[in-house]
Amino acid sequence: MFESIPNNVNLESNPKLQRALLKWQPDFLAWWKEVGPEGFQQDQIYLRTAIGVGQGGWAHWDYVKMPDYRWGIFLANPRKADTIYFGDHIGEKLWDQVPGEFRKELRRLIVTQGDTEPASVEQQRLLGKTAPSLLDLRALLQVNVEEARHLWAMVYLLHSYFGADGRDEAEQMLERRSGHADHPRILAAFNMPIRDWLAFFCFTTFTDRDGKFQLASLAESAFDPLARSTQFMLMEEAFHMATGEGGVARTVRRTAELMKQGVDPRTVGAIPLEIVQKYINEWSSASNDLFGGEDSTNAANYFAGGLKGRFNENDPGKYSDHSALEGMYEAKVFQDGKWETKNIPLRRAMNSVLLDSYHDECARIVERWNSVLEEVGVPERLSLPSLRFNRHVGLYGGHAYDPAGEPLDPAAWQAKRGQWLPSPGDYEYVRECMVPVYEPGKVANWIAPHAKGVGGKPVDFPYVQFH
Ligand SMILES: [Fe+2]
Ligand SMILES: [Fe+2]
Repeated sequence: MFESIPNNVNLESNPKLQRALLKWQPDFLAWWKEVGPEGFQQDQIYLRTAIGVGQGGWAHWDYVKMPDYRWGIFLANPRKADTIYFGDHIGEKLWDQVPGEFRKELRRLIVTQGDTEPASVEQQRLLGKTAPSLLDLRALLQVNVEEARHLWAMVYLLHSYFGADGRDEAEQMLERRSGHADHPRILAAFNMPIRDWLAFFCFTTFTDRDGKFQLASLAESAFDPLARSTQFMLMEEAFHMATGEGGVARTVRRTAELMKQGVDPRTVGAIPLEIVQKYINEWSSASNDLFGGEDSTNAANYFAGGLKGRFNENDPGKYSDHSALEGMYEAKVFQDGKWETKNIPLRRAMNSVLLDSYHDECARIVERWNSVLEEVGVPERLSLPSLRFNRHVGLYGGHAYDPAGEPLDPAAWQAKRGQWLPSPGDYEYVRECMVPVYEPGKVANWIAPHAKGVGGKPVDFPYVQFH
């Protein structure tokens, strides 16, 4: 069994880890069968598999049946730094074991991250049935097997460094279920249904991108195995986000081309820009909530301990003060009828600092979608809602703000909600647009074709061979 698990963690000579995995792997496969992608399990899918950590040559492309996918365990190459470079322990050696004083916190960080990986597979499990092209179907299944590998990456840490507690946590990863009333996944956005492909593309743009920022902040960790596991996961995450951005761009292109021709998208089963905007609003605001409270003791403790840094904490020129003991983060809140500035000590504001980095990147993505509209020649534009819009967590949670971030009273929110977030009718309309297309090189009517293929193959390559 162990020869079939690609790894660079010396699995062959680690009997303790082998024993733990021997017990866990059958449960993993049972989970995959129960709530992994529905259908396509016996088909040959053209997938990449991580087989090493070398730059460029890490992925192997071939046809594979998903249950035979070789889920591997990888640590990225060692970092340049061999000492801790932020928080209270600057200059001390990086940890290759879990220090007793941070055991609980590190376990919590790893479990919270790990739980999102199988959750997203569960959320996406029905989408293959309505894939707009074979290349899109392939992309979905690639994302699914890689999220499952990310689960392996976190389970490896739990098994190797957290003893019996870690093994329990690894089992529970396979027991919680996205959207389940009694044992849901840990974070709210990972319990929301991903109803259709537009939602999938928004999820992979905004929610996988939250994943990127969380992973990147853990890749700064003083706990070296965590830092190097998450660093490697980021290589796969890039494809997930590109799938989302490209998918929305193609949706927008198709709609814009119809508008340019004077055709109402609704008359031909394409998706109006207003609905695309509502989906952006829904998934970006749900993903903002994943960063946690703007003012957070946990966040301060994680930073102080060296467990979780800022985005690109160690990039020269990004941050000069790595202690973050001084300075305030200013948050604007609307209270008792007027705007007030809330000053949050910087360490307690680390979730906000990370969220701001994320928000800036999301804004650049939306601008790239707008450049598609510009290129096709229609005047409409999409926008990224304010960080205050539709929040359920933190300073803005439960308060009504419009997409521009302006406060409004609850009655006005209720009256306008349907203009900003998808209505049941919008979901129903998009559902009707989702017609599967499985012929190589062909694409559904609501979305523009891919500009190029993947894995060195052309767009019309048979990426899935049905059994
Ligand atoms: Fe992931
Ligand atoms: Fe992902």
